[in-house]
Amino acid sequence: MAILKILEFPDPRLRTKATPVEVVDDDLRNFIGDMFETMYDAPGIGLAATQVNFHKRLLITDVSVDKDEPHVLINPRIVEKDGVITTDEGCLSVPGYYEEVERAEHIKVQFLDREGIAHELEVHGLLAVCIQHEVDHLDGKLFVDYLSEAKRSRIRKKLEKERRQQAVVI
Ligand code: NI
Repeated sequence: MAILKILEFPDPRLRTKATPVEVVDDDLRNFIGDMFETMYDAPGIGLAATQVNFHKRLLITDVSVDKDEPHVLINPRIVEKDGVITTDEGCLSVPGYYEEVERAEHIKVQFLDREGIAHELEVHGLLAVCIQHEVDHLDGKLFVDYLSEAKRSRIRKKLEKERRQQAVVI
């Protein structure tokens, strides 16, 4: 197991559109293990493969308090959406920023699990929000894209400045 490096906004690799997973094998399951270790360590409640620079349609979540309800969604497809919920969202790729985002309150999602078995799941509330946020990552979209251009540009400038301050000049 290993902790993977999480890409941060405005890294252009976060804009990559992920392609479908073709084979669910032990290599992929090992990688999923690394993704869970990375997400729990961060800590976060969801992580898309895109965020760790692996551009396949794969996401994980665990929105439970005790961190004992892991979900693996391979090739997720949201087939139904309804209702509206507004959540203060953050993102491991946009550290330190939280903004209100409106999403569907209830979704139906089809996906393969870590054994490659197909499922259809109806979820609502926080898990539904989290899955929508992670599917966005797989399409190269970030929660800051729902904000105004001015707000997004302010966040980008602050993050770039923080990174410059952390940089070591050799
Ligand atoms: Ni995110």
